[in-house]
Amino acid sequence: MDLFEYQARDVFEKHGVPVLGGVVATTPEEARAAAEQLGGGTVVVKAQVKTGGRGKAGGVKLAHSPQEAEDRAREILGMDIKGHTVHRVMIAAGAKIAEEYYFSVLLDRAERRYLAMASVEGGVEIEQLAVERPEALARVAVDPLVGIDQAKAEEIVDAAGFAADIRDQVVETIQKLWTVYAEEDATLVEVNPLVKTEDGRIVALDGKVTLDGNADFRHPDHAALEDAESADPLEAQAKEHDLNYVKLDGSVGIIGNGAGLVMSTLDVVAYAGEAHGGVAPANFLDIGGGASAEIMAAGLDVILGDPQVKAVFVNVFGGITACDAVANGIVKALEILGDHATKPLVVRLDGNNVAEGRAILRAANHPLVTLADTMDGGADKAAQLAHAAAAV
Ligand SMILES: Nc1ncnc2c1ncn2[C@@H]1O[C@H](COP(=O)(O)OP(=O)(O)O)[C@@H](O)[C@H]1O
Ligand SMILES: [Mg+2]
Repeated sequence: MDLFEYQARDVFEKHGVPVLGGVVATTPEEARAAAEQLGGGTVVVKAQVKTGGRGKAGGVKLAHSPQEAEDRAREILGMDIKGHTVHRVMIAAGAKIAEEYYFSVLLDRAERRYLAMASVEGGVEIEQLAVERPEALARVAVDPLVGIDQAKAEEIVDAAGFAADIRDQVVETIQKLWTVYAEEDATLVEVNPLVKTEDGRIVALDGKVTLDGNADFRHPDHAALEDAESADPLEAQAKEHDLNYVKLDGSVGIIGNGAGLVMSTLDVVAYAGEAHGGVAPANFLDIGGGASAEIMAAGLDVILGDPQVKAVFVNVFGGITACDAVANGIVKALEILGDHATKPLVVRLDGNNVAEGRAILRAANHPLVTLADTMDGGADKAAQLAHAAAAV
């Protein structure tokens, strides 16, 4: 889960990372009150959206009075930044910036450890810096069992070439950021920019934090950080039924049982789609071992609720739940859904009691259902139907 900047600011503060005052606001009037609360001086009105480059997009603006903060908030609220609508702004105390730096620590899956990155050329897009002047971005491996202690922090700071006058402060701040990373179970903590103010203080001015959902059980407080309002409604619906659902961009809805089978179904559909106008999978949906009628209905309901889906491929391997039970599940699910089921369904069953399963579907003779004998054949048929439906 990615945090909003204001949430990252709060988490930083909790762990002693130097930050400036910041108050979140959802209306221009609240923005004015927030600016007053921060002392009535210069503030920065910052769009709270989970994407970078807000400054460039006009989502970060200076305001010299509470009235100006209200005016700037009125401009920024409702703005669209890279497809994200701004519902909140943070009113942040204005910093007098002398220099901007960069620091991040993240999970390096390929190397099975953490990676710290730092640069004395912050503020700019770090991806661009990494490409154009890679030597300006220090990369230091972090041993997960040791973390960023005093020695590691010094190594990072010296590799990046921080000046002597701020060295100690940056070393200390980096260790605190490590505490955020470790204690909150993050997979990314990024500060861009980390700044030196005109009076020589080091402050984290922008924060990006990604929390590891697998560690949620250790952090009951993290649930409150979830952004219910912009969560995908279909993902929420799937979660309610304990279904593993991931929305993708294509038009072929996919239902399978078992993560391995669903993964390979995605591949096969993507491959088959190449021959049918480049159609691609619309989602990943694993209905698990049970595959009961209720679960099948819940799964189909989620997938049919996605307007991008033009055809559905149900690819189930009958194991503990045999194919006849799955077939009955599909038939009942279509009954339960009634008029909600409007898109063609290609069903491929294999495994225990496959003959019985197919016979049940054949007997039901539902107008939307096409039976497929093989996984490749089913994927091809579903891709063809999705392509044809999109052409209408
Ligand atoms: N509190 C602040 N005071 C002064 N300047 C700020 C403040 N916050 C951000 N800025 C300036 O705005 C720039 C962009 O803001 P930032 O928070 O990094 O957003 P983004 O990375 O999304 O563009 C920063 O590099 C900094 O120069
Ligand atoms: Mg930034």
